Amino acid sequence: MSSIKKAIFPIAGLGTRFLPATKSIPKEMLIVLDRPVIEWAVIEASKAGIEEMIFVISSNKNSVIEHFDRSEILENALKKKKKIDQIGLVQSQNQLGSFSFVIQDEPKGLGHAVWCARKFIGTNENFAVILPDDIILSKIPAIKQLMRVHLKTNGGSVLGLESVPKKEVSKYGVIKIKKRYENYFSISNLVEKPMYSQAPSNLTVVGRYLLNSKVFNYLSLQKKGYGNEIQLTDSLVQLTDKPGLYGIEFNGKRFDCGSKFGFIEANINFGLNDGDIKSNLKGMLRKL
Ligand code: G1P
Repeated sequence: MSSIKKAIFPIAGLGTRFLPATKSIPKEMLIVLDRPVIEWAVIEASKAGIEEMIFVISSNKNSVIEHFDRSEILENALKKKKKIDQIGLVQSQNQLGSFSFVIQDEPKGLGHAVWCARKFIGTNENFAVILPDDIILSKIPAIKQLMRVHLKTNGGSVLGLESVPKKEVSKYGVIKIKKRYENYFSISNLVEKPMYSQAPSNLTVVGRYLLNSKVFNYLSLQKKGYGNEIQLTDSLVQLTDKPGLYGIEFNGKRFDCGSKFGFIEANINFGLNDGDIKSNLKGMLRKL
C-alpha cells in the first residue's frame, strides 16, 4: 500500500450560490483572512504530504493558475523595496507542490469533474479529492486524519464525515453505516441529497475523500444521478468491497465558503486563530 501523493481539486463550478461576488472572481479566490479559499485547501493537502495538486478548472479561472505560479515582477519589486518577509509570502504558494490543470468543459457534475482528471491517476492508485468550498480549521489536517483511517483499514477508501441536524441532510451525500469502530465507520451505501424522511443516517459527506481509482470504472459509464448530474457519491458504492469504504468524523471545524454565512464564519474563526489580529477581533466581537 503506497502513501497518497495526489489530490484532485474540482474547481470548475460557477459559484452561483455567491453572486454577485463571484460574477468575475472565481469563488475559490475569495479571501479568508489573508489568502484565497483554494490556498487553504492546498496548504491542508501539502501539510498531509500530498505532492501533486491536480486542478479541474474551467477557462475563466486563470487567476487560480496565476496564484500558484511565481510572480517575478512582484518578487523583483519587493526585492528593490527590501521587503524580504513579503517575498517569502508570495513565493510560498508555488512551493506547496507541483500543479497540473485539466479543463472540465461542461458542468456535468462533481463525478464528471473528478473523471476529467482520470489520466493523472494510475491503475489501482489511491488519491485524494478535496472540495475547497469546505475549508477546515484543525490541528491535524483533515485529509491527514482520513489517511490514518486508510492505513488502519489496510488501504480502505475514506470519506470525511459530519453529523448534521436531520433536517439538513438533503444538502449533502449521506452514508449508511455498516459498522461503528472506535473513531470511524464502515459504510455500506450512500445517497446523494436524500429527502429528510429517506436519509439512511444524519452522517453527511464533507468535501474530503480518499478514493481508489476503481471509482473511474463507474464514472466512465457517465450515469446521471441526483439533479441530472454525474454524482461522485453514486460511484462510491463501488468501493464498499474489500478493502472497503470508511468514514471519519474528523476533529476540526468545517466552514462552507460557498455560502454567505459559512464564508463570514470562516473569516471570523480564521481571524481568531491569527496571532496578529486575534485580540482586536475579540474586542470588536465583544462590542457587537
Ligand atoms: C457535494 C457532494 C455532496 C457532499 C458535498 C460536501 O455537493 O455532491 O455529496 O456532501 O459536496 O460539501 P455540493 O455541495 O457540490 O452540492
